[in-house]
Amino acid sequence: MRTRKLTKIQAMDRISELPDEVLIKILNLVETKVAVSTSALSKRWEFLWMLLPKLTYSTKDYSESDCESLRSFLHRNLPLHRAPVLERFCLKFHHSHLEPLDVKLWVLAVVSRCLRELKINYSSHPDKQDILPSSLYACKFLVTLKLKGSILVDVPRMVSLSCLKTLQLIEVTYLSEDSLERLLSICPVLEDLMVNGHSDDNLEDVVVLVPSLERLTLDICSDIDEFVIKTPSLKYLKLKYYNSWSHYFSIKKMSKLREAHINVSFPYMKKLIKSITCVKELTFCAVLNSLEDDVYGDGFVFNQLEHLKLCICEEHVSRLLVRLLKDSPKLQVLELFGMENHSPDGVYFWNQPSTVPECMLSSLKTFKWSGGYLGRPEERDLATFILQNAHCLQTATILSESSLVPKLDMLKELALSPRASTACRLVFKDL
Ligand SMILES: *[C@@H]1O[C@H](CO)[C@@H](O)[C@H](O)[C@H]1NC(C)=O
Ligand SMILES: *[C@@H]1O[C@H](CO)[C@@H](O)[C@H](O)[C@H]1NC(C)=O
Repeated sequence: MRTRKLTKIQAMDRISELPDEVLIKILNLVETKVAVSTSALSKRWEFLWMLLPKLTYSTKDYSESDCESLRSFLHRNLPLHRAPVLERFCLKFHHSHLEPLDVKLWVLAVVSRCLRELKINYSSHPDKQDILPSSLYACKFLVTLKLKGSILVDVPRMVSLSCLKTLQLIEVTYLSEDSLERLLSICPVLEDLMVNGHSDDNLEDVVVLVPSLERLTLDICSDIDEFVIKTPSLKYLKLKYYNSWSHYFSIKKMSKLREAHINVSFPYMKKLIKSITCVKELTFCAVLNSLEDDVYGDGFVFNQLEHLKLCICEEHVSRLLVRLLKDSPKLQVLELFGMENHSPDGVYFWNQPSTVPECMLSSLKTFKWSGGYLGRPEERDLATFILQNAHCLQTATILSESSLVPKLDMLKELALSPRASTACRLVFKDL
């Protein structure tokens, strides 16, 4: 069979005959740096990159000395960009030979181009760089804004981000203690918010009053004075909050919440639990106050909870487990897990509850011990309690360190324990 091979030049000519829209689609698939380099190919290609709807620049692609050429390239060419809508502008600057003022000018240029998504990862010393022009906060078309690093958030008066749906603020710094609240107040249709704080970010109040919000991820580990969440539409909550001081804390009931990942140590457990009782899926990792006998207070029922993942990182965890089992009448899946970076406390004591929780009689189907089962007596007692009392259990899975010497005995003990559910399969796996 004879195949005709095209020479590179012939191939290039054929590609060049394609219409602009197709070529732009092709250019969008390669790194912006490569796309822009096609402007040197021929007259046909010279201006095409200026119509690219997505632009990504990363200093990772450049040596430090090349940064200067990136800088002058952006200064020269960004103002010439002509796509009617700029879908995305993304800057990832690792080492900063790029002055804050440069970045500010580029953002200024793209904000005027019907920008839909802006993503900036910028690190510099000193931090808190003023790289965001105030016109950004009035960008009518912006749907997604993701900021990370040494960026100062300073919200001017009388602005609005009327289309913004996704906002990420990772380790940025706020001009004043109410900057975050102000920013949220100008986002009337916000659906997805992520805030990761850092120790020196000026965040004194975390106030999230957003009626439209559906997903919220908060990672706050500094001591703040005021913590308020009022998000009635929330479906997903991921909260990491460590603050041992007494402070103002208010969280309103979220009746649409389906999934929550909670990792907390703070004095207001009752208020938190009360607001999340509608969840279907809950991951829980908490440091409890050893003095409170009732764990998180009485009278709460997780009426819809089907899947519970509990971190066994802390000595009071068995009390918490018993409490959650009692309060979750429809639970189907129970998973106990440990975290590698946690002290491997595990289950230190186990007090057999006097009555068998309802979910074990009627709904619990799956039990999984997925973080370092060590086979200590307390752990064995807990596991056998489940096996002996969970009437509908279908599988029980135990993952344990393969290096443990007395492993075989430890597993035999469990395998020989009587099971309330004859259909239950017991599965052992190595971690
Ligand atoms: C953001 O920048 C930091 C350094 O400041 C770097 O470690 C990280 O990988 C960057 N992330 C992305 C997504 O580029
Ligand atoms: C909870 O936060 C602590 C402290 O940062 C961390 O060590 C732990 O891994 C987190 N737990 C989960 C389940 O993410």
